Amino acid sequence: MSGAVRFQTCGSVLVTGASRGLGLQLVDSLASGAFSPGRIIATTRNPAGAQKLQELAEKHPNIHIFTLDVLSQQSIEKCVEEVEQLVQQEGLNCLINNAGINVVADFQSVTADKMIENFHTNAVAPLMITKAFVPLLKLAASRGGASGSAPMGIQRAAVINITSLLGSVELNWGEGANNFKWYPYRTSKSALNMVSRSMAVDLQPDGILCMVIHPGWVRTDMGGSQAPLSAEESISAILSVIGGLTEKDHGSFLNFTGEQLPW
Ligand SMILES: NC(=O)c1ccc[n+]([C@@H]2O[C@H](COP(=O)([O-])OP(=O)(O)OC[C@H]3O[C@@H](n4cnc5c(N)ncnc54)[C@H](OP(=O)(O)O)[C@@H]3O)[C@@H](O)[C@H]2O)c1
Repeated sequence: MSGAVRFQTCGSVLVTGASRGLGLQLVDSLASGAFSPGRIIATTRNPAGAQKLQELAEKHPNIHIFTLDVLSQQSIEKCVEEVEQLVQQEGLNCLINNAGINVVADFQSVTADKMIENFHTNAVAPLMITKAFVPLLKLAASRGGASGSAPMGIQRAAVINITSLLGSVELNWGEGANNFKWYPYRTSKSALNMVSRSMAVDLQPDGILCMVIHPGWVRTDMGGSQAPLSAEESISAILSVIGGLTEKDHGSFLNFTGEQLPW
């Protein structure tokens, strides 16, 4: 049975970058599946322009759309306040840091500004967003069992960071190094991997699971039309993996198929 059914036991899931691509598909699949969580908090920097997301929210009353520009600390704090009002004492069960950009630049064209731009959105923002949501994640984790010591997983509290295989330092060698010579993107995802691993250490005492997952190469605006996977295929596999996460996956780097990937 798909691990995704465990989303039924999850009170709330927050997705960043839900206007299009994998973020929109996450919201769609969570809302339309037979395993829909209590609340799906879909965040986007421009709700008015997110037509498809608005249409989904009209069909599914458990979708709540909030504004979140992941680059703005003020926007992050305002979003936390709004989410707090929505979930109250239940807290937030699952935070999915999905929003990302790909600033394409090779050794010749890379600049400091391009590196910093990609680094901010893909690595710094997930750290700042997680920090801001920790009180709500802690609240959810502490409610996961009478003594707050229930097994780790989305029924309790989890931070899922959407990374990329291209962030693997080990795989950026030989064959794997000949394509996608993208300095800003690759290094931003390596940094996200390290951020996640560090957060896993810090969030463990609170029972908050933290990990990174690669969604595969997917047909989205970022992935392009040549990618082998549809957004639906990728997200169906990802939700199955996320739903099935337990202690053993805390601090891990997994493929969308569930296998471990080399750091
Ligand atoms: N597609 C792939 O093959 C692939 C492979 C590996 C990893 N990934 C990762 O998967 C995640 C989703 O990628 P995707 O393919 O769905 O990309 P996408 O189609 O380009 O969508 C990116 C999403 O991120 C949002 N975003 C960007 N900057 C933002 C900001 N400052 N504040 C709020 N939202 C922001 C965008 O919002 P707007 O609509 O407002 O711009 C959009 O919703 C990314 O982290 C990406 O690195 C994708």
